[in-house]
Amino acid sequence: MKVLGIAGSLRRASYNRALVEAARTLAPAGMVIEVFDLDDIPLYNADLDVDGVRPPEVERLKQAIAAADALLVATPEYNYGVSGVLKNAIDWASRPAMKSVLAGKPVAIMGASTSTTGTARAQQELKLVLMGCLSLVMPHAGVLVGMAREKFSESGALTHEPTRRFLASFLHDLQTWVYRLGAVRTT
Ligand code: FNR
Repeated sequence: MKVLGIAGSLRRASYNRALVEAARTLAPAGMVIEVFDLDDIPLYNADLDVDGVRPPEVERLKQAIAAADALLVATPEYNYGVSGVLKNAIDWASRPAMKSVLAGKPVAIMGASTSTTGTARAQQELKLVLMGCLSLVMPHAGVLVGMAREKFSESGALTHEPTRRFLASFLHDLQTWVYRLGAVRTT
């Protein structure tokens, strides 16, 4: 099973990047998580969202999403919402409306923040945004990594054992759910 991991932060020492990285190392047997960096995705411009004109990095993002059996998105929370970086990438990937690479795509959501609420509000918003893209959001109580400073090391390793265990079981649930959906590609 191929899962594409996306973090909605460009910060080098981002906790959300680190969370995706932790997921990569905790993935169950049979699941491979590849990471797509949003660093080079330009701001959405509908004038450029045309075949032959679209920025190559956006084409690469759309191809990576299309080739994945599922997405694993780690969202920061900015002012109670999804980061602009993540929303911008979703906007690019969401066209053509209703038949984009996001339509019917299984998506698992998680997030890390420095407050106690651990991106709960951003995750709610993200679910709504993904509903608008006809994505299939994994039903789950949610991976809400609050107080991130206490759970990651200086070098960005997820060191909090209960969170590591919870993340591992979340990834296992993701694998089971995607198989149940019959969404794994065989070609
Ligand atoms: C934040 N932060 C934040 N945290 C939170 O739990 N709820 C919020 O509404 C906000 N709002 C917010 C706005 C802006 C502009 C910034 C820069 C930060 C704190 C945020 O959780 C923290 O900076 C995380 O470290 C951001 O995620 P990354 O970059 O570490 O992945």
